[in-house]
Amino acid sequence: MKKCVVFSLANLKGGVGKTSITVNLAGSLVTDNKKILLIDNDPNGNLSSHFGLEINEESYTLEDVYVSKNLPSIFDMAAEVRANLWVLASSPGLGSVISYLSSKPNREIRLKNFLDKTKKEFDYILIDNPPSLNILTLNSLVASDRVIIPTQLEDFSVEGVQRINKAILDIKKRINPELKIQGVLPNMVNDRRKISRSAREKLAGFQVPVFKSSIRASVKIPESAEMYKLLIEHGKSTAVNGDMLSFRDELLSAL
Ligand SMILES: Nc1ncnc2c1ncn2[C@@H]1O[C@H](COP(=O)(O)OP(=O)(O)OP(=O)(O)O)[C@@H](O)[C@H]1O
Ligand SMILES: [Mg+2]
Repeated sequence: MKKCVVFSLANLKGGVGKTSITVNLAGSLVTDNKKILLIDNDPNGNLSSHFGLEINEESYTLEDVYVSKNLPSIFDMAAEVRANLWVLASSPGLGSVISYLSSKPNREIRLKNFLDKTKKEFDYILIDNPPSLNILTLNSLVASDRVIIPTQLEDFSVEGVQRINKAILDIKKRINPELKIQGVLPNMVNDRRKISRSAREKLAGFQVPVFKSSIRASVKIPESAEMYKLLIEHGKSTAVNGDMLSFRDELLSAL
């Protein structure tokens, strides 16, 4: 059986690049013999939009995982957006799942129960999350092996790291002792020589691992999203794609 690794991309601060990193890390991981599943666990559905996915009444989405018991195969629920790259989409109704679940048993382990049955089909599963600590984010952390925390190196974003770190420690204690922070990933870095020293020092104080790699600020990232493309397609030879590949290599060598 394949050993699948499930990653949560999370930070309680919005707009730090969670969705962009999820999408483009997946683009850099997918190969002929590696199968990837992306899960859009954010009611805003930015990841699903990135691939131009259109949801209608008949579509299966992540919402079904949270509310239904009998589901078809993942390959009937997710869309194959590139060869070997699958997306389980968000839906406008995913937001209402938050209150629906509040009175339900096993509300924190619904995604885990689903992924335990689905994992064997994939090498990597990447879950994109909303910038808040709601029951959807908790499900993601409970279902994951590792957490990647994208952040900008400025003080407010770094505080988001501390808040997600606290949530992770709580989940480890209560439900998922194997959960591990793989690292904080600095994103939208402008000038590596001047990376905010106070933000770095703050991070060091939280005692979370920080990747050596970072992703520079580049218009190629929003541009590729607007074109429904992956960075590896729209900017294959750009420096920022080089950053993404270095990050992928660092990540894989640490697994
Ligand atoms: N390295 C980068 N360089 C330039 N722009 C970037 C970079 N990373 C992300 N962006 C842009 O920043 C904006 C926010 O990124 P993204 O949507 O990935 O963040 P997010 O953390 O998922 O946000 P939210 O919390 O709202 O879900 C987007 O317009 C995206 O294209
Ligand atoms: Mg997002």
